[in-house]
Amino acid sequence: MPANRVPLTARRNGPLSGAVRVPGDKSMSIRALILGALTVGATRVGGLLEGEDALNTAKALQALGARIEHTGERQWLIHGVGVGGFAEPANALDFGNSGTGCRLALGAVAGCPVTATFDGDASLRSRPMQRVLDPLQRMGARTLASADGRLPLTLAGARDPMPIVFKPPVASAQLKSATLLAGLAAPGETVVIEAEATRDHTEKMLVHFGAKVRVEPEGGGRRITLTGQPEFIPRPVTVPADPSSAAFPLVAALLVPGSDVILNGVMMNPLRTGLLTTLAEMGARIERLEERNEGGEDVADLRIRAGALRGVEVPAARAPSMIDEYPILAVAAAFAEGMTVMRGLKELRVKESDRLAATAALLRANGVAVDIEGDDLIVHGKTRAAGGGTVTTHMDHRIAMAAIVLGLASDKPVQIDDGTFIATSFPGFVELMRSLSAELS
Ligand code: S3P
Repeated sequence: MPANRVPLTARRNGPLSGAVRVPGDKSMSIRALILGALTVGATRVGGLLEGEDALNTAKALQALGARIEHTGERQWLIHGVGVGGFAEPANALDFGNSGTGCRLALGAVAGCPVTATFDGDASLRSRPMQRVLDPLQRMGARTLASADGRLPLTLAGARDPMPIVFKPPVASAQLKSATLLAGLAAPGETVVIEAEATRDHTEKMLVHFGAKVRVEPEGGGRRITLTGQPEFIPRPVTVPADPSSAAFPLVAALLVPGSDVILNGVMMNPLRTGLLTTLAEMGARIERLEERNEGGEDVADLRIRAGALRGVEVPAARAPSMIDEYPILAVAAAFAEGMTVMRGLKELRVKESDRLAATAALLRANGVAVDIEGDDLIVHGKTRAAGGGTVTTHMDHRIAMAAIVLGLASDKPVQIDDGTFIATSFPGFVELMRSLSAELS
């Protein structure tokens, strides 16, 4: 925990209103930086998330030899070194709080004959890395030092990486992406077979840069085949607004009576819209306006109006399409009529915090009844929450923002112990919420 914690308090005020755009998508921003770094020539990225997770990834890529320039607001230019072209970094790479940056960079480095040490903050140091190291080691990378599959760890990339067929043991876009990025340097076909489809930004962006990727349905999931050693061509990337960040003002607008809010340019990739599906089932009034395609992704402006919600059952199969949205869904569920059951949340235990426990604790601290049964989270909605609690955020940006949204709609104010980690994914969150008339101090 940094010495300079920033406690924040959220309290109920009048309706939220206005039109805003949340920052660029975290997943796409990190992928754009990494693929730009793996492309010879200059890649222009517009709409990049200028949050700590993306900035830490950019710094790591600079230490690996890429030149990265900030050319204007959310405009960046990446001068890449090509697949297999990373230089050996002089110091440990510090990914801060970013699991995505770290795990995807592990994949990119695994295909290069360099040795690098990967590190991060206390939250990232507690998260499992062996799941990523397993396929990378099969491809020829070696782990030289690691405390039981966690950071800090030192990886020696493969001199002659080998393509593999990999079935990730958990539904994880990070695991899939790390394997595909390592596969870029291998001759022949690297195959990832995922039992459930996870966000497909890596596959789409690989194709955008000129790689050959085949995606076929297999079982309930997908078989992804990448042909290694592609000729990458620099191509501009446009990053739409992050649906996982949009989720916070969106749920706030649903819960604060009388609210009417527009969120502009939100990415609507169907592998990211599980929260919208769930909220629609709960009776939420969310309209998709101006549906369009921007830079290869579906995008829409969302109009959200406050209204009554009812509890629902969220099937485990939906988890990959809303994996980051359970804390904020749980807040919405507290204000719904009746019980909401969220099934199959095992992976939440290894996010930036143990999000299953942290989400339950945040609700309980504010008078909401919650049960955890196995990997399921059950929220007993009562259409209002008492509030009045102080929430421990455990270095987790999404727990912090979910607690603030709860405070905007509950009877008494809600305090969080530290708002600094919000900047990992949503710089300007407090200002954006205030521009909608939220009361935050
Ligand atoms: C991400 C994948 C998800 C998600 C994370 C971003 C990505 O993690 O929680 O915030 O960009 O690939 P897992 O792949 O570990 O589920």
